[in-house]
Parts: sequence; C-alpha cells; structure tokens
Amino acid sequence: GKVRAPTHIVSTICDDRGEEPTYCGVSMSELMEADANVGDAIGLLWFKRRLPRYATKFIEMCVVLCADHGPCVSGAHNTIVTARAGKDLISCLVSGLLTIGPRFGGAIDDAARYFKQACDQDQDPDEFVEMMKRRGIRVPGIGHRIKSKDNRDKRVELLQRYARKHFPSTRYLDYAISVEGYTLQKAANLVLNVDGCIGALFLDLLSSVGMFTAAEVQEVVDVGYLNGLFVLARSIGLIGHALDQKRLQQPLFRYPWDEVLYTK
Ligand code: ACO
Ligand code: LMR
Repeated sequence: GKVRAPTHIVSTICDDRGEEPTYCGVSMSELMEADANVGDAIGLLWFKRRLPRYATKFIEMCVVLCADHGPCVSGAHNTIVTARAGKDLISCLVSGLLTIGPRFGGAIDDAARYFKQACDQDQDPDEFVEMMKRRGIRVPGIGHRIKSKDNRDKRVELLQRYARKHFPSTRYLDYAISVEGYTLQKAANLVLNVDGCIGALFLDLLSSVGMFTAAEVQEVVDVGYLNGLFVLARSIGLIGHALDQKRLQQPLFRYPWDEVLYTK
C-alpha cells in the first residue's frame, strides 16, 4: 500500500497551494467581494470561522482603541529608547512588544479566565475579590496607573456602549462591573481597565454568537487567544513611535542622573 511520509508540520488555518490563497477555506476574492475587514481576517485565522458583522466590527474597535496610549507607557517607552539607539524598525517594535504582559496590556486572557470561572460558578463578586486577595493575586483586568473612578477610561466606555447595543448578552461584562463596584470601594484607581473590559466582552461575544460551543469558548480561554488582540493593536502605535523618533532624528537617550535615586 501507499506509505505517507510524515509531514514536518500540521496546519489548519490556511492554504496557499491553489490558484489563490484561502483563509480557512475562504478565498482572497471572496474576502474582497465581501468587503472584509481586519476582524474578518482574525475571525478566520484565529477563530477559524466567519464571524458576524457585529463581531468583526467589535474586533476592529478593539484594534483601533488599543493602537496607542501615548509615549509614556512601558511599550512606547521601550520603542522610543530603542529607536533613539539607532536600531531598525523591527527591533524598535519588538522591544516595545516585549513589555506586554500581566501588568501591561497582557492581562486580557487572565481576566477572561478568572471572570469566566467566577461568573460561571455564580461566585459573589465581593467574595471573588477577597478570594484573589487571600491567594495574593491581583485581579487581572482591574486597576490602572492614571485612570480612576473620577477619570474613567473612554475606551472602556466606548466598548461597553457598543456591546450593550449589539451583543445579545453582556453577562460577563456585568459580572466584571460588579467586581469593579467592589474594588472601587477599596481604591479609586481599581477600575475595570481596557484589558478586563475586552476579556469580559470577548466571553460575551463568543458565548452569544451561537457558533461556539461551551468547550470551544473554554479552549479560547485555555489556549489564550485574547492577548493577541492587544499585541496586534499596539504594534500599530509602536511602529508609529519608532517612525516618529526617526523622523525627528532624536539622539541617543540617556536618563539624567537626577531621575535616578542612587542608594545603598
Ligand atoms: N487587584 C487587587 N488589588 C490591586 C490591583 C488588582 N488588580 N491592582 C492594584 N491593587 C492594589 C495593590 O495591591 C496595592 O495595594 P497595597 O498597597 O495594599 O499592596 C494598591 O492597589 C496599589 O497598587 P499599585 O501597584 O501601586 O497599583 P498600580 O497603580 O501601580 O498598578 C496595575 C496598576 C499594574 C495596572 C495594577 O492595577 C495591576 O496589576 N492590575 C492587574 C493587571 C492588569 O489588569 N493590567 C492591565 C492594565 S490596562 C493596560 O495595561 C492596557
Ligand atoms: C495602555 O493602553 O497602554 C494603558 O492603559 C496603560 C497606561 O498606563 O496608560
């Protein structure tokens, strides 16, 4: 009989062998005819399905709203310093991207994980926060360096407004907001941040689209698809910062000594 040599890799998301490439079975021509946007490409290449318009629009909103948050945040700072050291565009980009993690931009997956578990178990939000405190874990998706109760994050407000209008259910968002209601009693900066809002709303989106089984939603959470959204979005801003520094011909960066506390 025929013997199939073992392949080097297995791939399930695209095919470039035919006359035109396909993303999960959908050809480039079909995508262009359907006026496909970045959300459609993410739907096919990450989630392996065609998502409805309200979902792809939501994904695009996340990308646009998270593209940049000024030059002072960790990622932009690293990119700016790297650009000023005369490095190439890709080095500038990755040095910024490498700061994305549990404290900065990379809390979306963990926020989705913890909010899902707590909400699915009908855990009282106050008890959830106290449980996290006992475990010594900061609630992912809660807290911000400059945003607070009286200086709300516009991105969070805009995403919530869209979801309330277009999503069939906002159960997880409502849970996250109850968590915020409790944490705000502890400190004014313990707001639901943009990572937490996206994490909760993605749970709502995937659970309500009707195309994801409970096991598939769990897989998204377990594998950790969602930090990718921040990485993708913020790359736009980081590239902008790198080009900006190069355009401005900024010199090598060095901290002034008085910005450092030298101590023993
Ligand atoms: N859950 C519970 N308590 C918290 C949380 C949280 N998420 N964040 C801060 N606190 C508490 C701290 O324990 C601390 O209390 P303590 O003084 O009794 O120890 C107090 O609030 C102040 O903590 P700081 O570290 O000074 O807060 P800071 O403003 O520096 O932290 C940060 C901001 C890093 C975002 C923090 O809130 C956090 O780690 N949040 C969870 C991770 C997260 O969601 N990151 C994404 C932020 S949004 C973005 O990056 C796009
Ligand atoms: C961001 O989007 O970079 C942030 O919310 C973090 C910050 O401190 O502004």
